[in-house]
Amino acid sequence: MSLIQLNRVYFQYDSSSTQVFNNLSISIDTAWKTGIVGRNGEGKTTLLNLIMRKIVPTKGKINIPMKTEYFPYEPKRTGKATLNVIKDSIAPFYQWEEQMRQLLNDSDASSLESYGEILEKYQNVGGYEIDALIEKEMNMMKMNSELLNRDFNTLSAGERTRVLIISLFLKRGYFLLIDEPTNHLDLEGRKLLGEYLIQKSGFILVSHDRYLLDICVDHILFINKKNIYIEKGNFSSWKHNRDIRKEFEKRKRKNLQKEIKSLKIAATKRRNWANNRETDKKAKTDQKERVDKGFVGHRAAKSMKRALNIEKRRETKIEEKKYLLNDFDKERRLKLDTSADSPQNILRLDHIFVSIKAKQLLKIFHL
Ligand SMILES: Nc1ncnc2c1ncn2[C@@H]1O[C@H](COP(=O)(O)OP(=O)(O)O)[C@@H](O)[C@H]1O
Ligand SMILES: [Mg+2]
Repeated sequence: MSLIQLNRVYFQYDSSSTQVFNNLSISIDTAWKTGIVGRNGEGKTTLLNLIMRKIVPTKGKINIPMKTEYFPYEPKRTGKATLNVIKDSIAPFYQWEEQMRQLLNDSDASSLESYGEILEKYQNVGGYEIDALIEKEMNMMKMNSELLNRDFNTLSAGERTRVLIISLFLKRGYFLLIDEPTNHLDLEGRKLLGEYLIQKSGFILVSHDRYLLDICVDHILFINKKNIYIEKGNFSSWKHNRDIRKEFEKRKRKNLQKEIKSLKIAATKRRNWANNRETDKKAKTDQKERVDKGFVGHRAAKSMKRALNIEKRRETKIEEKKYLLNDFDKERRLKLDTSADSPQNILRLDHIFVSIKAKQLLKIFHL
């Protein structure tokens, strides 16, 4: 068992004023198939980047026991047979083969030594078995091995996704971080990917696709603003537990609101009572009756103090439970006015340009 451990990790992007992670501690076993779920912008990709050490925490420690690889990635030189693209993604097999061929032609001792060094590297990454291993992996992914001879660029986007994921699993000794792989996959593609992944271990899969997550993960890591936790099970079991937890918290919140209401009433009653005593005392003094002024004043002050204490307690309670109120997902329904005359005008975009720094992300002239 080896663990990816994050210990009291804080993270904030330089260009941002809000923290993505605030005192995050979590352990992930590298033998698990961990699915990460959470809404857009909650920090899923940021977490993967921290695990890859592409970014470093503002504070806290991260322990990663293995080298990591990330999907999606751009394969090197794609205008060639798929087999070559896969092999190049794993290791420079062709380059090493060429170097060994040349070195064998030289007869001096240093060339022989270099040959030995390259041969060792070649063997360590399975150079002699790699073609057979690739075919086996293609079968596991239910892909026809004829695709291996086809130009990679002629593959469909879904086929390319599955080929690139196969390539990562063929790299030895890496822990895989797979980020949103279903963008180009139809239902069948997602099913085949899920059935492939279930045979693997040691990966993290970020996905919104509950169908895929249900097929192939055994742990779910949930991320939202207030709460990050990991639990055993697939998406459905996590969702079931979450619904129960939400219902429980909803009841807790209702009880809390009831409690606040009755405390409020009690505090008002006491305050009124204390005010009445003061008024009473003043009236009696005016009539020059013999009253123990000090006694009445003291009682009124005490009541007032008690009322204030109750109010303070109520406020503390609200503070204490605030997290509970905040943790409720603020899901808002998108309201569309279907009574409008022209349903085509639900959304109209004119001349929309979105860019970050110099990079243009979106250009819509009319939609
Ligand atoms: N390079 C960046 N610079 C500044 N803020 C970023 C950067 N990358 C992501 N963020 C912000 O950090 C938060 C988490 O983003 P991200 O990890 O991409 O979320 P997710 O993958 O869950 O959708 C978001 O609010 C996002 O806008
Ligand atoms: Mg992301």
